[in-house]
Amino acid sequence: MTKIAVIVGTVYGAAQYVAEQAVAALSERNYDCQLFEDAVLDEVLAYNADIWLVICSTTGEGDVPDNVFPFYLQLKEQFPLLTNKHYAVIGLGDSSYENFCGGGEKFAELLAELQGTEVAPMLRIDAIETLEPELIALPWLQQHFTG
Ligand SMILES: Cc1cc2nc3c(=O)[nH]c(=O)nc-3n(C[C@H](O)[C@H](O)[C@H](O)COP(=O)(O)O)c2cc1C
Repeated sequence: MTKIAVIVGTVYGAAQYVAEQAVAALSERNYDCQLFEDAVLDEVLAYNADIWLVICSTTGEGDVPDNVFPFYLQLKEQFPLLTNKHYAVIGLGDSSYENFCGGGEKFAELLAELQGTEVAPMLRIDAIETLEPELIALPWLQQHFTG
């Protein structure tokens, strides 16, 4: 069964909710998913997922939320090559800010540097356009995670 590590970065819970919905939907499609809420790199690596799915909102000025920042730093510092892994990023943001979806962008950049293979270009969800980000995320997952 294909294993997916779902890594969530959230401040107010929107990305968390999307991640929970994503885990439920992907599990129904026979993926083996684990949700990492305060991700620790060693634990994610030990899970040995085929795919890393990062669902990350944006705080400050295009920054990664505090709950996932340690993981982001560990990735940058330890730099584990993800050559045989796939990844996808769902970024949540608000286009009235200068660095729209900056948190997700930072992960997308880093995962590319780590030489993972992108499942699909990053999805950017704009809080100005929807109060229900899961309604955009779930069809996107259905399109790109075909089981
Ligand atoms: C203090 C603050 C700073 C933010 N900074 C940005 C930003 O720089 N870029 C962006 O795209 N969105 C920014 N946002 C918008 C959030 O990322 C967006 O509302 C998101 O849906 C929140 O998701 P969460 O509930 O998972 O944290 C900011 C929101 C707040 C409250």
